[in-house]
This record gives sequence, C-alpha cells and structure tokens, in this order.
Amino acid sequence: MNISSTKSKYPIRLPNSEGFVEYGFDGVGVAFNNDLQSWKYNRQFFSQAMMSPSFNYQALKWTNELWNEMESYWNNLGEDHELDLIKCKLYTIVKERRIEIENSPLDQPLRHDMLTSFITANTPRDINVVKQADSDLLRPMTDKEIFGNILDTMLGGTDTTANLICFVVYYLEHYPEIKKRLRHEFDTVLGEDLTRPITYKDLDKLEYCDAIIKEVFRCSPIFIINGRINSQSDKVGGYDWPEGTQFQMLFSAIIKHKDYWTEHEKFDPDRFYRVEESDKYLLEKKNMKTTFPMFGGGIRICPKRIIELKCLLFLIYRKYDIELVDMNSPLKYKRDFLNLCKELIVKIKPRKF
Ligand code: HEM
Repeated sequence: MNISSTKSKYPIRLPNSEGFVEYGFDGVGVAFNNDLQSWKYNRQFFSQAMMSPSFNYQALKWTNELWNEMESYWNNLGEDHELDLIKCKLYTIVKERRIEIENSPLDQPLRHDMLTSFITANTPRDINVVKQADSDLLRPMTDKEIFGNILDTMLGGTDTTANLICFVVYYLEHYPEIKKRLRHEFDTVLGEDLTRPITYKDLDKLEYCDAIIKEVFRCSPIFIINGRINSQSDKVGGYDWPEGTQFQMLFSAIIKHKDYWTEHEKFDPDRFYRVEESDKYLLEKKNMKTTFPMFGGGIRICPKRIIELKCLLFLIYRKYDIELVDMNSPLKYKRDFLNLCKELIVKIKPRKF
C-alpha cells in the first residue's frame, strides 16, 4: 500500500526549466520532480500523509478550527480591509518542528499532521501507520525533501482550491436553483445546528456538492492542459514516437467536447450526480472515466482532491449569504499555469433563513 509504482511509459509530466534548477526545485518534492527514484520516495510519504484516514480526520478538525479562527478575524475586521498573506519561511518551520518533536516526551503522542509525518518518517518517533518494505524507502527524509513536499502541498493545494472555490461561488450565484439544492443537501446532511463541526462521514454524503464542483471545473477548468514525457518509444494515434517525446493533452477541450457530453455547453451538475441512475446523461455514463481527468491519471494522479473545498463550501454557505457585487460581470480569470481568478468582488452577509 502507498508504494508508488514507477511502472509507466509516461512517468514525467514536464521538462524542468532552467528557472526550476536555479531555484533548487529539481529533484525535490513531487509535482515537478523528474528524478523517478526521488519522486517515488517522496510520493509514498506524500500519499501516505495525505490519504490516511487519521490525516483526513485531523485535516477536517483543523479546517473546522481554522475556519472559526478566520471567521472571528472577519468579524473583527470591520469594513474595507485588505488581507495580506504572510510569506512562510518553510525551512525555519521544519527546523522548529524538529526541535519541538525532539523535546516532547516519548510517552506523549505526536499530532498527525503532514509535517510531523514527514519529519518522523523512518525514525523511532514514526507516526506513519504503514511501514515500507522497499529498502530504497527506509531512510528518514532530509530537510530539503521535506521542504520540497511541503512546497508542493502549498503549490498543489492552495491555488487549485482557492481559485476553484471562487469559480464555484460565481456559478452558485448565477444559478440560484442549484444553490438552493446545495443548501438543502447541507441542511439535510448536517442538520440545523450551525455550530456542529463537519465530519469525514458528512463529506461522503455531500454528493450534490461534489457534482457541483466537478461541473464548475468542467465548464471553467482551473487546469487546461496536462503533460507527459514518455520514457520508452510508443505508438500513439497511429504514429511511432521516440523516447523523450513531450505530449500535451488539452483537456479543457475534452471536457467540453460534444461527442462526450450531453448538451455540452450547459451548466448542469446533474451530469455528475447519481449519473448511474439517470437516463439523460448516457454519454457521460459511457465516457466519464477517460473524458474527465480533473485530477489527472496514472502513477502521477493528484494525491489529494477536494475534501477541503467541500468543507469550505459547507462552512461558508451554511451561515452566510454571498452576493456578487456585479452580477453582469463575466468570470474574470487570467490564463497562467492555472486559470487564476483575477477578480471576484463579493459581499458576505449572515444568512437569511
Ligand atoms: C481542486 C483541487 C485540485 C485539483 C483540480 C487538482 C488537480 C491536479 C492535477 C490535474 C494534477 C496532475 C495529475 C497528473 O499529471 O496525472 C495534480 C497533481 C498534483 N496535485 Fe492536485 N489538484 C487539486 C488539489 C490538490 C491538493 C489539495 C493537493 C495537496 C494538498 C494537491 C497536490 C498535488 C500534487 C503534489 C501533485 C503532483 C503529483 C505527482 O506528480 O506525483 N492537489 N493535481
């Protein structure tokens, strides 16, 4: 379990640019690591840290707690405040946590967060449940490796979630009936107690919420392209391609193609909602596995996905009403490595019941 396979003809996503090498990002972390041995080593810890139930429980606990903290800042801010995000000094954080762990008594359980999981991996204080059998993977992680993985979490997890949530809010405000159904789902699954923290079990039941996120992604994807480089020659599309060919998949085109999607231009989360039970979305039923690579696929598939996004949507919409300041404005985004939301001006008010 959790030992990443390197058995793929397409193990690498993108070539490393000079800038990456200059910044010391080559051969570290997961997302842009083209050294397959090093990627395999990091990916197994990454997947283990992020996908284990205890991590997810902890992540939800923290999301609930951080939400409360952020909400209290909002309440204290008053009007017309801009928020500044503080730049993290990652190496300092890693070193400080190492010292904290060293100084904590042996009989005191360590909390299950990602940094602790990386720092303790293959040490006597290891909090990871799954032990590796592969001898290449049995050494502790260096600070540089931890830095690379934490940086990947921030790069992979922050802009994806932050931009997609803006897009979701935009769509919900333009489709009030869909927002109503979403709130109904929230109220049904979570009850009317506005202070009850959301649990991992609740998240599984938020199927319509899940469908909305996917449909927003289909209509306004935050990624439009994904890449692969083959490590062996191969035949693709009837042509022979030598080893080292760089392929780019324009998946923003695939996720809207009329051959694969019913009423492909229409925004309708139902195409992802209990689609097996529906007769309407036959094309989706037939093709979805290959035509909706929201999280990529194969050995380099995204190790995380959308629990935070579902959790945040619930925490916001159960208590607040969001209003777009300009309902006539199109969704403003900037095309970069990701599609970044350029501007979304909203008013946030306590929800009217
Ligand atoms: C809306 C949420 C997200 C979307 C749509 C998304 C999408 C993707 C996609 C398309 C890939 C490329 C997969 C491939 O090449 O096959 C990817 C990779 C990756 N994602 Fe995500 N992601 C999301 C959230 C997250 C979060 C929350 C994290 C971490 C906290 C994360 C960490 C990563 C990492 C580390 C990789 C590289 C994996 C590797 O190369 O082995 N992602 N993601």
